[in-house]
Amino acid sequence: MNALLDIAGVSKTFGGLRAVSEVSFTIGQGELVGLIGPNGAGKTTLFNLITGHDKPDTGRITWRGEHIEGFAPNLIARRGLVRTFQNPMVFENVTVEDNLMIARSARSDDPPAGLAERLIDTCGLAAYLAQKPGNLPYGVKRRLGIALALTIEPKLLLLDEPAAGLNQGERQELVSLLRALWAGGLTLVVVEHDMRLVMGLCQRILVLDAGQLIDDGPPAQIQANPEVARVYLGKAALKAQQEAKGSHAGH
Ligand SMILES: Nc1ncnc2c1ncn2[C@@H]1O[C@H](COP(=O)(O)OP(=O)(O)O)[C@@H](O)[C@H]1O
Ligand SMILES: [Mg+2]
Repeated sequence: MNALLDIAGVSKTFGGLRAVSEVSFTIGQGELVGLIGPNGAGKTTLFNLITGHDKPDTGRITWRGEHIEGFAPNLIARRGLVRTFQNPMVFENVTVEDNLMIARSARSDDPPAGLAERLIDTCGLAAYLAQKPGNLPYGVKRRLGIALALTIEPKLLLLDEPAAGLNQGERQELVSLLRALWAGGLTLVVVEHDMRLVMGLCQRILVLDAGQLIDDGPPAQIQANPEVARVYLGKAALKAQQEAKGSHAGH
């Protein structure tokens, strides 16, 4: 496997809380990887550490042979390692077209001819160029967030809950987009709660729980892991219990 990203013994503590604890894994060129785990497991923190939005306390992050821990986000992005956020980072007061223009400034060079047109086409934005993001359907706004991230032509894109809040049709469109990007050679790591979506999309799944990597393997291995089931089932059962209590309290 041709390693793009290597995470070795990475930890991050907030106050007394170990948000990411001794996490190690490697992402190879051309992989499509899912990152799952209950709320608070440390998924977003891990993305922040990888892309320079936060600094690890310990551990090494190696991107194509270079140690990048502690680098500023723009320096990491320009090397081809880019993330999207749970809420798309778009400029609300300018049009979709202007958003795409502004995103070019994240590059240190001029984009190749035709890149914007390709992204507009791939991300299905042609019909929305003159609109402001606030007026867009949620699924389109999410695709705009992805197009903006792609303006820098990353080699690896980290997507933080790209399907959250989308309806079934929008989810299907998103899955098609991610598959198309992957087929085009992009390496992807996707945080996603919808098990059907993530198991259907990804060839390999990383499971975080309470900051620790508890499994790493193909969907069949993850589905058969009783520890993974316990982590999810535990949360689901607890939630159902709390909801039942809440509804009783209302009577
Ligand atoms: N900047 C921060 N300051 C303090 N605690 C944080 C901060 N960011 C995240 N946390 C805590 O770290 C843990 C992991 O959070 P997060 O990475 O957002 O989890 P996930 O994305 O898996 O839901 C949570 O307990 C969260 O409250
Ligand atoms: Mg998160």
